[in-house]
Amino acid sequence: MSDPRVAKSNALYERAQQLIPGGTQLVSRRPSRFAHGVSPVYAVRGQGARIWDLDGNEYIDWASGILAIILGYCDPVIDAAVVEQVSRGVNFSISSDLEVELAEELVRCIPCAEMVRYTKGGGDACTVAVRIARGATGRDKILFCGYHGWHDWYLAANLATDASLNAHLFPGIEPIGVPKALAGTAIPFPYGDPQALADLLEQHRGEVAAVMLEPFRSALPPEGYLATVAQLARDAGAVLIFDEVSSGLRFGMGGAQQFAGVTPDLAVFAKSMSNGYAFGAVVGRREVMEPAGRMFISSTYWSDAIGLRAALETLRELRRRDVATQLARFGTDLQQRVNTLAQQVGCPVECGGLPQYPQLLFQIADPTLKAQVVTLYIQEMARRGCHGYASFALNAAQGLAERDQTLAALSQVLPLIARGLEERIIPHLLTARPQAEVFRRLVN
Ligand SMILES: Cc1ncc(COP(=O)(O)O)c(C=O)c1O
Repeated sequence: MSDPRVAKSNALYERAQQLIPGGTQLVSRRPSRFAHGVSPVYAVRGQGARIWDLDGNEYIDWASGILAIILGYCDPVIDAAVVEQVSRGVNFSISSDLEVELAEELVRCIPCAEMVRYTKGGGDACTVAVRIARGATGRDKILFCGYHGWHDWYLAANLATDASLNAHLFPGIEPIGVPKALAGTAIPFPYGDPQALADLLEQHRGEVAAVMLEPFRSALPPEGYLATVAQLARDAGAVLIFDEVSSGLRFGMGGAQQFAGVTPDLAVFAKSMSNGYAFGAVVGRREVMEPAGRMFISSTYWSDAIGLRAALETLRELRRRDVATQLARFGTDLQQRVNTLAQQVGCPVECGGLPQYPQLLFQIADPTLKAQVVTLYIQEMARRGCHGYASFALNAAQGLAERDQTLAALSQVLPLIARGLEERIIPHLLTARPQAEVFRRLVN
């Protein structure tokens, strides 16, 4: 099961399971999400597009720090600014002036932003947005689509029926520890189906505080869908919240909302907005945000100057380097090359999705076999120095060296998968355990 290449990682994970319930702090970092036994579990260093694991192996990080890295690890500009900030102090007994400077920058960039609040991560930013929507409307119910973190308000969806989150997160999540009194307060709606949303809004007429969704991740929404969602939310008197935590500023300085041409009432950002330093923000229209001044939404580390400084410098560098254009160009080229290769070697996979976040879509009907093939892909790519899922989370440090090394690895791995499928021997090619807990993202 355990590959000697990653013996230290796997041994440490054994110890972790005795000490850390769940083994990791984030489900997406669990070894079971990659090729368990072969993928690295612990990183000790990152630089540019690459990470080094506990066993000393080097990888291109195609998961980009689970989307938290957009400029690359240890970006010299961001890190110099952070180090300079550290030398000045980071958590004062009064506010940091950077709060206002960053607010002005966000208001300039993001179409819906007239006022802002900060957090330390995506889930707590989503929770702040939900509190603001509930406070501003005086209503309790949230209609949501997609993944929005671990907090009670969201997991409450699985109190009414334990299958609610199956399509939005993954099956089998028991809302253990979530107060039963929250049942019926968070209700999922399916992506891309305006009638289903209209029906839910009608069913809960006058009770819905917010319609919250990831506008899109790696594929464009159906034509006109987001505009219809916005209209439906408006007609129902509900706050429209876009969760842009994962998409971030990969689609441009105005985020996914500007790319899609639909402006929500509130939007949530985190992850890549600060290039890996802990930070999050809720931004939105003055009318919706202003009531937050009367709500108790308060935390010591939300004004921590490391996150503020990192976010401020990241926004400026994203604009100065025109990173969104670079990512689109890089992703388009990568998709074309991967698709050409897949055709040449007869592997049933398409490198699809938006070029800013290419996805490997294996055309395999049987879900068990598909999961095995995905695990085999992750396993074999890891052995060739490419860490990640069956997708390419882009960052600006990835260049021709990463592209060519990855294509060289693919030129061995895709034929192996093609042969495995043809000879029906995929399970025999697996050293790793097949992937578990696959995030079934409803929003692509
Ligand atoms: C769309 C979306 N919202 C919220 C979150 C939660 O963010 P965090 O893990 O920083 O709490 C994530 C994390 O993956 C996300 O993708």
